[in-house]
Amino acid sequence: MKLLEYNPHRRALLKTAAGAVAALACPLKGWSSQQNPDRLIAAPTSAPLVLDFGPPTEVWAFNQQVPGPLLRYRQGDTLRLKVDNRLSMPTTIHWHGLRVPVGMDGVPWLSQEPIAPGQTFHYEFELKDAGTFWYHPHFASSEQVGKGLSGVLIVDEREPIEVDRDIVWMLDDWRLNEHAQIVPFGANMRDASHNGRLGNVVTVNGDIGETFMVHPGERLRLRLINAANARTFALQFQDLEPWVIALDGHPINPVRLENDQAVLGASQRMDLIIDITGAPGDITQVIDRAFGPNQAYELKRLVRGARALAGKAGQPEPARLPDNPVSVPTLTGAKRIEAIFEGGAMGAMRGATINGEFKTIRELVNLGKAWSTNGMVPNDVHFDPPQFTLELGQSYIFELENRTVWEHPIHLHGHSFQILSRNGKKLTEPVTRDTVLLQPEERSEIAFVADNPGKWLFHCHILEHQSAGMASVIEVVQ
Ligand code: C2O
Ligand code: CU
Repeated sequence: MKLLEYNPHRRALLKTAAGAVAALACPLKGWSSQQNPDRLIAAPTSAPLVLDFGPPTEVWAFNQQVPGPLLRYRQGDTLRLKVDNRLSMPTTIHWHGLRVPVGMDGVPWLSQEPIAPGQTFHYEFELKDAGTFWYHPHFASSEQVGKGLSGVLIVDEREPIEVDRDIVWMLDDWRLNEHAQIVPFGANMRDASHNGRLGNVVTVNGDIGETFMVHPGERLRLRLINAANARTFALQFQDLEPWVIALDGHPINPVRLENDQAVLGASQRMDLIIDITGAPGDITQVIDRAFGPNQAYELKRLVRGARALAGKAGQPEPARLPDNPVSVPTLTGAKRIEAIFEGGAMGAMRGATINGEFKTIRELVNLGKAWSTNGMVPNDVHFDPPQFTLELGQSYIFELENRTVWEHPIHLHGHSFQILSRNGKKLTEPVTRDTVLLQPEERSEIAFVADNPGKWLFHCHILEHQSAGMASVIEVVQ
């Protein structure tokens, strides 16, 4: 097996090499139990990421599963989980996209003391919003998330929706060597100043299996989660015509995919409704085109079973899901704040301020930093003083400007925001999300009510950009 270099056609190569297609028996392998665990144990283990094309990969995982246990609740429930740290370094858990009290947000020092090796932390909070979310550590995020610490968290709507199956695909990528082992993490300024740590192996729900069985006549809800450190996905479903019903957990008016592609920047989610048309035995390739036509590859193949189902496909277009109780910003009285992102390779940034001192780009690189927000680079620990101070209850419009030649999925903790415009063009319908994927040189206005008191991280979810300085703190004060 050769996994030496980034090779988008890896699957095809592996397949011809072995002469067989690995069948994925069950889409929710390891996720059969709907009983939530009461404990997440973060520890080293191994996982068959490449199936029998190579040895198991040494990973870090929750409860020895990659991805971690599927957590599933109903809207309004209270999550109660103990987290045991059996790693060699401190950790935390951040509940990505969930609007939780600041003490439960899992950002080391900002919201809690990191959980030391051998220690346990108890997380408990109410699940206000329904939708598709995920969880991951927020300590040494690039390494911990990159080694496999992440899992799915679903909050079901109070009323179930009309589908035949509800399926999750957690998308991830890994940088593996020829023995299928994770290439060590360490200061890598090339990754940090370009597009992050891209992997050479892409997995769905923790392995490279290609086949996904479907049945003509069924209506699926497919929840896509991008858990990769840096990779953007742009999935095409060929003959199938999915509707998008939610972004980052929050409902939108159901709409067909824009440009036929499901685009997910790092950390983003998308809920699709897919009616399986076609005849028994037909195959639909799901192609990832995020890196252009020359690097497109087959992520999955939907293989139709021998029997058609008298399912819900062909029923009228799905209805909009009930909105989550997110405060709606008042745009007329909103205060405006600019956030300008600079830096990275081929950028114009000459330097920035860190710990109160201006440093040239060369000096910053020596400190492992490559990015700034409004000319500031945070120190890694306390992020003091917070870069933005907001008044509790006030509406804000953040004018984001990406002055770099790289994509950045910008994520805000503790709040969900509306995207109002992109490059000065108003969106026909505002979209509520927790992460906005900024294209190179793109501007976007986002709006939200600062209704959650505390100090919240505001950062790029390309985890190597985050650790190289693309992060700031927004404090919401009474
Ligand atoms: Cu997915 Cu700051 O987090
Ligand atoms: Cu970034």
